[in-house]
Amino acid sequence: MGAQTTPPAVFILLGPPGAGKGTQARMLEEKFGLVQLSTGDLLRAAVAAGTEAGKQAKAVMEAGGLVSDDIVLAILRDRMGDDDTKRGVILDGFPRTAGQAEALDHLLASTGQRVNSVISMEVEDAPMIARVAGRYTCANCGEGYHDTFKQPAKAGVCDKCGGTDFKRRADDNAETAGARLNAYHAQTAPLIAYYKDRGVLEEVDAMADITTVSKAMQARVAQVIG
Ligand code: AP5
Ligand code: MG
Repeated sequence: MGAQTTPPAVFILLGPPGAGKGTQARMLEEKFGLVQLSTGDLLRAAVAAGTEAGKQAKAVMEAGGLVSDDIVLAILRDRMGDDDTKRGVILDGFPRTAGQAEALDHLLASTGQRVNSVISMEVEDAPMIARVAGRYTCANCGEGYHDTFKQPAKAGVCDKCGGTDFKRRADDNAETAGARLNAYHAQTAPLIAYYKDRGVLEEVDAMADITTVSKAMQARVAQVIG
C-alpha cells in the first residue's frame, strides 16, 4: 500500500479583538508545527509595504471596520499556497464574514482540505478594551506583550529574540477598539452558528490567564492532530 498523505489541517480561531487569537496562535504554532496565518498581520504588512491592497485597507483598519472580502481573500489565497503550510494552518482573524467562510470552503475543497476545527474564544467585551490598549509587540520578531498581563522577563528586552524595539498598533486605542468589537458582533459572531451547524465548533473560556487558556486550546488541537 502506498504512503497515505493527510491534507494539511485547518484550524480557525474565532474571537473579538483582544480575545487572544494572536497570542494563542503563536503558542500553538510552536507546539504543533502549524503555521499561523493572521489576516490582520498580512494586511498590516501590505499597508507598511504600500501595496495597492494596503492603500485601500489602511483607512478602513484605522476606523475599526472590515476590509473588503475581495482584498482579504486575495491576500490569504496567496499565503495559503506557500510551502510552509503543509503540516497545517491556524487561521487567526479569518474568516470574519459569511462571504469569507463560504469562499474558504470553496478554496479548501479545491485542494482536498476542510476546516477541521473552529475554536471560539469566549470572552466578555469590556475587558477586551484594556487588553488591546495595553498591547505592544517586538518590532523584530512580532512576539506580543502587554503592559500588565504579559511583560518580558527583563524590562525592555524581548524574551524570544532579545530585540529592544517595540511597537504599538495604530488601531489599539479605546475608540477604534470599540468599533472593532461592534464589527465583530455584527459580522463575525454569526459564524459561530455557521460552524456549530457543521459540527466543528469548540468553545474555550478565554477570560482565564494566558497559560490556562493555552492548555485548553492545546487539548482541542491535539484531538485533531495528536
Ligand atoms: P486583527 O489584527 O485580526 O485584530 P483583531 O481581530 O481586532 O484582534 P486583535 O489582534 O486585536 O486581538 P487578538 O485576539 O489577536 O489578541 P492578542 O492575542 O493580541 O485585525 C485588525 C484589522 O484588520 C481589523 O479591524 C480589520 O480592519 C482588518 N482585518 C483583519 N482580518 C480581516 C478579515 N478577515 N476581513 C476583513 N478585515 C480584516 O491579545 C491582546 C492583548 O491581550 C495582548 O497584549 C496579550 O498579551 C493580552 N492577552 C492575551 N490573552 C490574554 C489573557 N488570557 N489574559 C490577559 N491578557 C491577555
Ligand atoms: Mg491579533
